[in-house]
Amino acid sequence: MSSFVWHPYTQMKDWPKFDVISKGKGMWLYDSHGNALMDGVASMWCNVWGHSNKELTDSMIKQTRKLQHSSLFNLTNDKAEELAEKLIKLAPEMYRVFYSDDGSTAMEISAKMALQYWHNIGERKKTKFVSLENGYHGDTTGTMSLGYVPSFFSKFKPMLFPVLRTPSPNRYRIPKGYSFDDYQEFCLEKIEQTFSKNNNIAAFVMESGAQIAGGVVVYPEGFQKKISKMCKKHNILFILDEIATGFGRLGSMIEYQNQESIPDIVSFGKMLSGGYLSLAATLASKKIYDSFLGEYKDMKHFFHGHTFTGNPLACATALTNLSLYKKYNLISKIKKRAIQIQSRIEEISNLDLVGDVRHKGMLMGIELVSNKKTKTQVSPQKRLPQKIFTEAKKHGIYQRTLGNIVMVIPPLAISERELDFLLDGTIKTIKNIAFHV
Ligand SMILES: Cc1ncc(COP(=O)(O)O)c(C=O)c1O
Repeated sequence: MSSFVWHPYTQMKDWPKFDVISKGKGMWLYDSHGNALMDGVASMWCNVWGHSNKELTDSMIKQTRKLQHSSLFNLTNDKAEELAEKLIKLAPEMYRVFYSDDGSTAMEISAKMALQYWHNIGERKKTKFVSLENGYHGDTTGTMSLGYVPSFFSKFKPMLFPVLRTPSPNRYRIPKGYSFDDYQEFCLEKIEQTFSKNNNIAAFVMESGAQIAGGVVVYPEGFQKKISKMCKKHNILFILDEIATGFGRLGSMIEYQNQESIPDIVSFGKMLSGGYLSLAATLASKKIYDSFLGEYKDMKHFFHGHTFTGNPLACATALTNLSLYKKYNLISKIKKRAIQIQSRIEEISNLDLVGDVRHKGMLMGIELVSNKKTKTQVSPQKRLPQKIFTEAKKHGIYQRTLGNIVMVIPPLAISERELDFLLDGTIKTIKNIAFHV
């Protein structure tokens, strides 16, 4: 069968054909031949309950019969209202919810909100953004500018706006002569210096708790809290991206609460709808929201909106998803699964090729290197991502690497036995690959 689909982040020359997934049940994806694959990456880090969860699909069917879409321009809908109220109750110090379709647009919105905030209060010089090196906030122009992963985005530089960047505390690749503690301090000092030297900064933007796409960097304790304090001290807005790390991925419902770092603006996506429909939300504090109020002629209102902003079907699904977190006590289950992952780290670290294992909650990144001592990266000529994908399939797993980092990022409700299957298969995959690298 020929295909007319152009796949994301994919060298199409290597992939004339992909397996066609036609069914999902629980942690498993089934291809058109009936072969089962465990969803080891939660269908791009968003699936919470596994596939075809009856409570979620029932609520989707119910809502589909009632109202599929109605716009938030001059109207509202019951599900968007209910969900916004729930999110505001959940997210400390947040005041209003702005809906969008995906993580990239949610982060694009957070940047626009920050800029317009300063504009609205008359501080027109505050227009620059600062972010961490190797942050990732999406693939649209604004978000590629904010979160710049050089290997992804260098080609697009001509269309990006300049952003000031400070180093990220990657404990595996710290410059020579530093201890990790010293390096963390160095990273924080760089932020302090950047804030002190520039009086035109609108906002500091970072992923909450950990960077994922830029290399799986779990922040050391206190790092994010210190940045939030610096932002307050220098009158700079603090924008957090919880699209991939909130809603339990790192073990907390709201990661910024765990990090004791209250943002001015924060975005959620991916797991918000249980991973079933495209939905994201940008939440703002009262200070931000109030600056958008005024006379119509002042044009202070927020100039942003999408066709599907606040789609009732997506919001209804998110509401059911949130109720299931409570009903099944998901966060405490995640904590148990996180301990299970932790208990296998030594075994994984000892494998050939494994340079470093970075883990928090239901996120694990296993960085493969060609030389453990020198930490030499595996050359792209070895086509490691393709080899890992093909080998993992032999062990019944759908695995997608991030370059040379093997990602274990399962649906959050995975059972103990299923997680063992995933970890065993990952270990076998890495062992077998070692012969070919
Ligand atoms: C931290 C973070 N922000 C934003 C995004 C973009 O989300 P989306 O792919 O839904 O546009 C992602 C996607 O992986 C992400 O990991």
